[in-house]
Amino acid sequence: MSRAKARRQFPVTSDDPTIRVALTVNGEAVEREVSLRMLLSDFLRHELGLTGTHVGCEHGVCGACTVMIDGKSARSCLTLAVQANGTELRTIESVAAEDGTLHPLQEAFRDCHALQCGYCTPGFIMNILSHFESGQPVDLSEEGIRDVLSGNLCRCTGYQAIVAAYRQAAERLAVRRGEA
Ligand code: FES
Ligand code: FES
Repeated sequence: MSRAKARRQFPVTSDDPTIRVALTVNGEAVEREVSLRMLLSDFLRHELGLTGTHVGCEHGVCGACTVMIDGKSARSCLTLAVQANGTELRTIESVAAEDGTLHPLQEAFRDCHALQCGYCTPGFIMNILSHFESGQPVDLSEEGIRDVLSGNLCRCTGYQAIVAAYRQAAERLAVRRGEA
């Protein structure tokens, strides 16, 4: 059989099974029919247009795709859209106030120059925020901060400024809660 003829025998389109998912994204109810194989990162970016969630390595190493699922940080490139069914999901688009006022954590990143190209920043913000909002004590030692940050890679900043932003944001948020 010629190669061209053999190629014609394969289906041109994929018949991936689909499933309906319903979840809350940034406070809004969302319902979509998706392929069982669709990644959550693709769902957010391509189905919902939430392109603040970045995709770097696509295999769970860099943390650029980090979002919050039911309050916990999760790598959206390692999660299927169907696994988020029924959850409350937050992306970077939910962090600033509706009028554009930055969250104290975003302000701290800006003030400490904790970003250069900014590609990694949404992932850092979502990861740090999940720690701040977990109710667990926040360890502001150098080692404690670097432990939290260890799941995110940045190719630009050298991390010093990100550590400083983490500390500044934690202190500002503590001031806000009247704890400092
Ligand atoms: S894109 Fe998900 S961890 Fe790198
Ligand atoms: S600011 Fe460029 S990768 Fe982190």
